[in-house]
Amino acid sequence: MLLDIVSVFPDYFSILNLSLLGKAQADGLVEVRAHNLRDWTHDVHHSVDDTPVGGGAGMVMKPEIWASCLDELLGMPALTVDASAQAMANATADLASSFSSGYAPDYQPSSSPADDEKPVLIFPDPSAPLFTQAAAQELSRHHHLVFGCGRYEGIDARVGQYYAAQGVDVREYSLGDYVLNGGEVAVCVMIEAITRLIPGFMGNPDSIVDESYTGEPLLEHRQFTRPTTWRGLSVPPILTSGDHAKVDRFRRDEKLVRTNAVRPDLIEKLDTHSLDKADRKL
Ligand code: ADE
Repeated sequence: MLLDIVSVFPDYFSILNLSLLGKAQADGLVEVRAHNLRDWTHDVHHSVDDTPVGGGAGMVMKPEIWASCLDELLGMPALTVDASAQAMANATADLASSFSSGYAPDYQPSSSPADDEKPVLIFPDPSAPLFTQAAAQELSRHHHLVFGCGRYEGIDARVGQYYAAQGVDVREYSLGDYVLNGGEVAVCVMIEAITRLIPGFMGNPDSIVDESYTGEPLLEHRQFTRPTTWRGLSVPPILTSGDHAKVDRFRRDEKLVRTNAVRPDLIEKLDTHSLDKADRKL
């Protein structure tokens, strides 16, 4: 999988060279390329932002710098001024449909093999739909992801709109209901969540089979290791009983009780057909 990341702070992404992601890169499973958006500027100050049209605080990232960079990374032909103006007009005329087919909250990406070959353009944005395990799973099947990290008040809204109108699969995701200083940290999180799902990434593939948010929407049970008694605290005795059926039942009870206490919204999403008799008693 090729991961292109565009940011004015490409050094943020040096952490992706550590640990399992570092190993995946060394093994050639993943290639991470962090680009500095300022490399696509032509003025002496390498400026990437301007004041918001319509007024207001802060600065907005300029569309033409982003387009020079993204045209290159997405392998799109550089447009003449006329063609570019026409494309922009089309994108503007098609605003509603670019939202419903491109990066609206109800967007359901298709994932046919042919689509997997096409790059996906992803913008982290606190105003976007939430990034979920399901999104990570779907994105892990693609071969080329391009991430655009906004700073300041964000990127001119026409950039995503333009590429969606050009047929690019454009997505926007929020990490959660809080605001970060920019998209860099959000992209690191998304990349970690996505790449660990690539077949061959984890040393032990079983470690991603039974995790929270995978399959049934239940949180994971607690985990313990040796010693079985530590500072007067013992692990639940069933776990040392050697009775696998009882251990499985104990862990499933923990998942259900914990999810109900911590994330009742997930319990609402449970398919009641997946519950057995013992589950229902809880
Ligand atoms: N950029 C700033 N805040 C963000 C958030 N919560 N999620 C994604 N991108 C962001």
